[in-house]
Amino acid sequence: MKAIEIRNKYLEYFKSKGHAVIPSAPLIPENDPSVLFTTAGMQPLVPYLLGEKHPEGTRLTDYQKCLRTNDIDEVGDNRHLTYFEMLGNWSLGDYFKEEAVAMSFEFLTKVLNIPVEKLSVTCFAGDEDCPKDTVTAECWEKMGIPKERIYFYGKDDNWWIAGETGPCGSDTEMFYDTGKPACGQNCQPSCDCGKYVEIWNNVFMEYFKHEDGTYTKLKQQNVDTGLGIERMAMLLQGKETPFDIELFKPVMDKLKELAKNDEIESRRIVAEHMRASIMLIADGGRPSNVDRGYILRRLIRRMTRHLNKLQIDLNELGNLIELNIEALKEMYPILLSKKDEIKEVIITEKDKFQKTLISGEKEFNKVMAKLKQEGKTTIESADIFRLYETFGFPPEVTKDVAAENGLTVNMDEVDKLFKEHQEKSKMGSDKKFKGGLAGTGEEETKYHTATHLLNAALKVTVSKDCHQKGSNITAERMRFDFSCDHKLTDEEKKKTEDLVNKWIQEELEVKFETMQKEEAVKSGAECMFIEKYPDEVTVYSIGTVSKEICGGPHVTNTKELGHFKIVKEEASSAGVRRIKAILE
Ligand code: SER
Repeated sequence: MKAIEIRNKYLEYFKSKGHAVIPSAPLIPENDPSVLFTTAGMQPLVPYLLGEKHPEGTRLTDYQKCLRTNDIDEVGDNRHLTYFEMLGNWSLGDYFKEEAVAMSFEFLTKVLNIPVEKLSVTCFAGDEDCPKDTVTAECWEKMGIPKERIYFYGKDDNWWIAGETGPCGSDTEMFYDTGKPACGQNCQPSCDCGKYVEIWNNVFMEYFKHEDGTYTKLKQQNVDTGLGIERMAMLLQGKETPFDIELFKPVMDKLKELAKNDEIESRRIVAEHMRASIMLIADGGRPSNVDRGYILRRLIRRMTRHLNKLQIDLNELGNLIELNIEALKEMYPILLSKKDEIKEVIITEKDKFQKTLISGEKEFNKVMAKLKQEGKTTIESADIFRLYETFGFPPEVTKDVAAENGLTVNMDEVDKLFKEHQEKSKMGSDKKFKGGLAGTGEEETKYHTATHLLNAALKVTVSKDCHQKGSNITAERMRFDFSCDHKLTDEEKKKTEDLVNKWIQEELEVKFETMQKEEAVKSGAECMFIEKYPDEVTVYSIGTVSKEICGGPHVTNTKELGHFKIVKEEASSAGVRRIKAILE
């Protein structure tokens, strides 16, 4: 049975049992900066588990896109995934153990037709916080699961909470017996040998765990269930790994065909990370150096590295993404309309990283050769850090490459070195504001002064609400982003150009003085990121037309600038326009 069929059957079944089908929440949680991604179906439902009324009622079901990053390093083996889809049904103070168990059992054995003999279940063994769950065990027995296949475990196995605090409770888990031989006399669902695969978790959410570690009862008794669709599809299709099901197979096969150096782990990593990246980008994710964006960046970087390991031409990436979307489109039709966007984001990021890799790997090999010479097997933190600082080779990549080469890394000091580095670069960026654009040449200096003139001119010719949102200067041109609610008219552009040129011709003097930040703001000096400036700032003024907090450097007189010309005006982002201009 294909994943999409499992999903459809699931939603249909729970709909027939009075559940409202609700849409999947985005992978990037709305209005919740405290978590990186949606990791479980219950996550968007927390307020309702706590007692708020859900507009759709007390019985809900959905499929939820989930991303769990804690196992990112494990991906490549035969089971771990970062992205997966979770099917779920919820009782919000409605049915409890008996009905939940009956429905799970019926769905597994009657809808999916899994033979009862294949099923084992686990229940909570009880402790000082919550009694042994004999009720659930009896329900299972009533359904036809023999006593010997009902196991009791403690909080480590049969208790569910998302994170450290919040709604939680004992759970009952269902396991599928793959038919593999038992690993020993004591082989049971809790063991890791692969004979038993967990297929579904019913959480009886009736407690709230507080920060001090104590539990109190929730207002209502809830049921929260989760069934991973890839795993279920794998079992029903009699496959060994999720990478063998239809959602991954086309990409896995294509990778095999393209690889000059085929390694199954690398193919899995590429296929898994590509799918996760596609899903994240479709939900608005973009690579960056922080939080969510950094996870996406890591996924794309790791994928790129393993494409290299497979010796696959990176120009194939676009086709691979298309193939991947093709495999996913039935489950997520939205991907089709986002195809170009997704390709562009992944390929741009890959290009950036590939450059880093080339220089970094060379250096890494040198480090390795040196270690070998010295008969050592551990890469020291100073080297890890140097690889990053000088070659942009990220520590997680060093760790990966090290492991592939049978080396270990000494991460102990790395965190400390990174903190110091962050401090330094923070100071560096303060300095940048204070001390001007590092390495600024004569041409850049001129453009820098022209930026101030343009900033001042727009306030006269377009609107006093035009404020600088960013700028980028090279020796050849300037780019200036500013807040503005409309596309500039030709007249506005002309007027702006004329005004800047008028000021240039007026041979205005450029001066600076140092003052307290507050004082500068009071004096009406323009600035972009007030909170980022140090307490003492430099204020540059150009005649009487412009006054800005700025680190310089600037020309001393506007007559040095020559002729100012706008070459392009376009949208930059919502409410922000971008001007490209040159001095000739
Ligand atoms: N919240 C539980 C889990 O993630 C059941 O859905 O396993």
